[in-house]
Parts: sequence; structure tokens; C-alpha cells
Amino acid sequence: MKILLLGSGGREHALAWKIAQSPKVEKLFIAPGNAGTTNAGENVNLKADDFKGIKDFVITNSVDMVVVGPEDPLVKGIYDFFKADSQLKDIPVIGPSKAGAQLEGSKDFAKGFMMRHGIPTAAYKSFNGTTINEGLAFLETLQPPYVLKADGLCAGKGVLIIDNLDEAKKEFKDMLDGMFGNASATVVIEQFLSGIECSVFVLTDGSHYKILPEAKDYKRIGEHDTGLNTGGMGSVSPVSFADKEWMEKVENRIIRPTVEGLAAEGLDYKGFIFFGLINVDGDPYVIEYNCRMGDPETETVMLRIKSDLVELLEGVAEGNLDEKVLEKDPRAAVCVMLVSGGYPQAYGKGYPITGIEDVEGSIVFHAGTALKDGQVVTNGGRVIAVSSYGKDKAEALAKSMKEQQKIQFEKKYFRSDIGQDL
Ligand code: AMP
Ligand code: GLY
Repeated sequence: MKILLLGSGGREHALAWKIAQSPKVEKLFIAPGNAGTTNAGENVNLKADDFKGIKDFVITNSVDMVVVGPEDPLVKGIYDFFKADSQLKDIPVIGPSKAGAQLEGSKDFAKGFMMRHGIPTAAYKSFNGTTINEGLAFLETLQPPYVLKADGLCAGKGVLIIDNLDEAKKEFKDMLDGMFGNASATVVIEQFLSGIECSVFVLTDGSHYKILPEAKDYKRIGEHDTGLNTGGMGSVSPVSFADKEWMEKVENRIIRPTVEGLAAEGLDYKGFIFFGLINVDGDPYVIEYNCRMGDPETETVMLRIKSDLVELLEGVAEGNLDEKVLEKDPRAAVCVMLVSGGYPQAYGKGYPITGIEDVEGSIVFHAGTALKDGQVVTNGGRVIAVSSYGKDKAEALAKSMKEQQKIQFEKKYFRSDIGQDL
């Protein structure tokens, strides 16, 4: 079959790497992809949210399935666009409908959904421009730190956690005043939860689901979780506290009620659900939902899926996911992200990258790279993910740390402590 994968980051390279291993795949296209995805398939010069361009490409090239990497096209309704088009309606899109993608696209919707289905999450209230005073009064009833969330998509920047009440009130007003444009026209204020986070991923066909290997990402730029937030500096899978007992709680209290809730509310959802969880004294709570895989979690999760991912995706499309087998690799996987110095603030682009071909035994996923006159150059803050297997996470980390030394570019930076806190 011919598959079109949308997106251009490390997540998409990891998905492409896994999809390309399937004997079912005759041709894999990645739009727009990056310098690394060309090792798994053919890059197509189309933006992931150029629906018209995607339509033309899918028809011209007889694409049989579209797999969506990032949230943007989903929240903008690419699934619905296909369903509504007479030429595209029978071509499966792996990803939820626009209504289902609201789990990520609207924090207010997600919180309401969890309330309706009794899914454990932080207590909250939502406010808008007409309820500013109520919001300020609500903040006064809470204990610090204060958690303020823009309702809409903000490229991962829409959550503020503030220790001081006066500052929280000011930021709350600024958010409603357009700090994140229309995305913060509604603001969710919620209770702060204290614990360790874990990302759990599910594939669902709308009625059945498979739980993929869990992972933990490392969001802060500095060692030992210090400094500014980033898109993610690395990941580890499995996560030690996500043992059988904890995962049973996750499945019974969170995963099943979510999949059943989506169906009960008539929300068409055939794709990945990313549960951003926090472990509070042994009990899982939902911090957020995403309607896609995580990045850099995918760069370890894909290593730990032994089964043919395309078989599972076909199960999603055909509604018989229950008949498919998901076998996990028992080994540990660790991903170390190599970033451009300065990131997550200002950083340079276009630095030549050397040594990728010298890496042995680890898997190199490109995140922000491009080809310039035949040379691979940096093209983003997060540049390359080096993922490795090990008998345990220490061995996997040691392997990634050894191999990453071979990859060089100006102002390279990374964290050497991925997975060490667990
Ligand atoms: P989100 O975009 O919802 O994932 O939030 C970004 C980050 O803020 C999360 O990964 C958490 O580390 C933190 N966070 C969000 N909500 C809460 C909360 N209610 N309590 C504690 N930390 C939170
Ligand atoms: N690693 C977190 C995310 O993809 O949102």
C-alpha cells in the first residue's frame, strides 16, 4: 500500500522509520518531511495543513492511507475534509475528526469532557472576558502555585504556573486580553497537582483500543529539570512507576472512560490519543490530552513496538483493532535530543552536521534538519534525536551518549541525564 505521512519533526521521522519496516508498504511519502525522512521514504514538498495540495497529491499518487503526525491539521479538520470529499472519503486518515481533536484543541472542552465521564483531573473553572472578576475571585480561593491555561493551541506555550497571587491575577487578565491571541480568549484556571508525569499512548478505532508503550519526556533545557521549558530534550520508555498495578488504574479510570466517552458523545476518533498523566501518590490524573503522538516520546515508543505498525493502523481504519496483535519489545529505550545552542530562545540555523553516518547501533531521528547543496544542516532548535536500546535505561542512555559524540554541529547542546530521575 501507499502511505502519506504528514509532518516534519523527530516524531514523524520515528513514525516513518517504523512504517517503512512494514512489508505491507509499497511506497511511503512524507510531507514535508526533513533531511532524515528521505531514508524511510520520499519527501513531498507540501505543508501538513495544505488540504487542497494534499488532496491533489493523494489522488495523483493513489495514496491508500494518510497518517497525521502533528495536531494542527487535525484541529483544522483534515479528517472531516477527507470524509466530505467524494474522491477522498474512502481513504482512511489516521487521526480524529475535528470534533474529536477538541480534546487537544480546547482545554475547556477537555476539562468538561473529563467531568462528564468522571475521569480524574485537577479541579478547575473556565473564564472569559465577561467573567474576569469571577476569575480573580476564584484565584483567591486557591493555594499557590496557580495554574493558568489558554484554552486553544499555543504551540506548547499556553500554560503558566505562577507562585505569586498578584502576578497570577495580572497574567490572567493579560491572557484574556490577548496574550496568546484568540487562543486565550478563554482561560482555564486549575488546581496544581504535584507528582511525576508520564505519557501514555493509545491507538483507537473508535471502539477498541491498544495501549502502546508508555514514555516520559524531559521538558526542561537543563540537567536535573532546571531552566526553561522546551519541546522536549529526550525521553525514556518504559517508565518504572507505570507498573502493572498503576497501568490498570490508568486503563480503568482514564483510558476506557475516554474511549467510551468519545463514542457516547458521537465524536469520531480513529487515531492516537496521548494521555499526559501525573502520578499523585500512586493515583493517575490527566494533565492534558493530545490528539497525536508525543515528541520526543515517539522516538522511544516506536523502538518498543515489535509488531507491524501498519497492521495496527489498518485495524484503526477498518474498525477491527481488537483482532490485531500489539507486541512490545521488553528492552528499554532512551532518546537524547541534540539541540542548537540558545534553544529554546534565539538560536542559529544552517550549521553543517557531520558524523551521522558513523553512528552504529543507535537510531538517528532527524528533528530540525534540512539538506542544503547535498549537506545536512540544522534547521530548528531541536536538531537530532539519538535513540538506543539497552537491557535497562542506564545501558540505553550510555549507548545514546556514546553515539551522540560522533554527531557534531556548531553550538550542539544536550542533556546527559535522561531517565536518571526515575
Ligand atoms: P500542558 O500543556 O497542559 O501539558 O501543561 C504543560 C505542563 O505544565 C505540563 O506538562 C505540566 O508539567 C504542567 N502542568 C499543567 N497542568 C498542571 C497542573 N494542574 N498541576 C501541575 N502541573 C501542571
Ligand atoms: N512531549 C510532549 C508533547 O509532544 O506534547
